[in-house]
Amino acid sequence: MSRDTIARISLASPEQLLFVNAAQVVTCEGPGRARRGAEMSDAQVRTGVAVAVDGGRVAAVDSTAALRERYPAAREIDCEQRVLMPGLVDSHTHAIFGRPRFEEQEMRAAGLDYMEIARRGGGIHSSVRDLRTRTEDDLLELARRRLLRLASYGTTTVEVKSGYGLTLEDELKTLRVIDRLRLELPMRIVPTFLGAHEIPLEHRGSAAARQAYVDLLIHDMIPAVAADHLARFADVFCETGVYTVEESRAILSAARSAGLLIKLHADELTACGGAELAASLGATSADHLAAVSDEGIAALAAAATVATLLPGTMLFLGKTKHAPARRFIEAGVPVALATDFNPGTSPTPNLPLVLSLGVSQLRLSVAEAVTAATVNGAAALALSGEIGQIAPGFSADFALFDVRDIRELPYWYGDNRCVATFVRGKPCHPSNLGLT
Ligand code: NIG
Ligand code: FE
Repeated sequence: MSRDTIARISLASPEQLLFVNAAQVVTCEGPGRARRGAEMSDAQVRTGVAVAVDGGRVAAVDSTAALRERYPAAREIDCEQRVLMPGLVDSHTHAIFGRPRFEEQEMRAAGLDYMEIARRGGGIHSSVRDLRTRTEDDLLELARRRLLRLASYGTTTVEVKSGYGLTLEDELKTLRVIDRLRLELPMRIVPTFLGAHEIPLEHRGSAAARQAYVDLLIHDMIPAVAADHLARFADVFCETGVYTVEESRAILSAARSAGLLIKLHADELTACGGAELAASLGATSADHLAAVSDEGIAALAAAATVATLLPGTMLFLGKTKHAPARRFIEAGVPVALATDFNPGTSPTPNLPLVLSLGVSQLRLSVAEAVTAATVNGAAALALSGEIGQIAPGFSADFALFDVRDIRELPYWYGDNRCVATFVRGKPCHPSNLGLT
């Protein structure tokens, strides 16, 4: 797409658009819910079709001739023999932080493990110390640039967690930053309250001090977040050495009573019953799961919870063990893929790279990886009736990649092939917006 075309689209943002001349349109069309088992293998790759958009929604997918007749006034967008697909859904990020923690990468290379760095006051604690010193405006500037990096790789919807504040004020400050970005940026942003990301250092002296923080979460922070409508989800880092299953259950139950949907960092590094807890609470998603037990897989298979896998995290931490994606799919658990974008364990904004890891490390087919980052990512955010497919009635959230065949998307690993994105039919990619 030429810069001129992009500029014209940006200025006009017309009601009716016709996306023509795509080498493939990957529609992912099907039921507006999470896909399981063999359903994940059909991404609906269409050739010779155009897509009509009316009022920010997909109106029809049909032959170009048919759509030109039906929408004679529509502005045409020439996809120039590239691949058009649903905008990518990054359903797990921690994008609001201050300074990057690059020093920890060499510490891990020298043999210190992630949890050991945290025990010495680094890791999440280091980001907490830093975020507490920053103003809302400072965090907004940092996060805006980072979210635009995510958008440049084809992501049109991003979930963003708090979790580096760990006081009422600093968590609310973080969530207000997310809210301002949600109103300001064209990408779709879903806010999650993760006040239970760590036990703050000042609450680690005794069992009573620890319980006081859990009480603060339940009795002060969750009600305040819910009252100000600052989050759609609540999340907890349920892990050996962080929150126990019982603490996680209490926090998430309180969140649900306050009207929030729930998700869980579960069985990331050790099998501690996180997947079972997510299933028993009916969480929308259970995330990470690299160390999930057989019982955990069975529990998720019997629930409606999406397993969100984050292979970039395992790669960056230097771990060889990945979440058992094939076993999840064989057991009928819907699988999503996300970046886990954060300053400690996964500083990549590149969701297509995570698709590459999905294929090469988790052994997904390309169709499964595409489904995991579109329809199932949407389901992990309780948005599967609104986004994740190019089908009539769905929001016109698209990504256009400079490849001729969808199988090239995970193939050119690490490269950025995304040339344009649209959310509700409006330009969203930083270069469509003239921001790069
Ligand atoms: O998803 N596991 C907990 N939270 C993040 C890491 C956060 C950090 O290290 O700053 C994760 O990997
Ligand atoms: Fe995470």
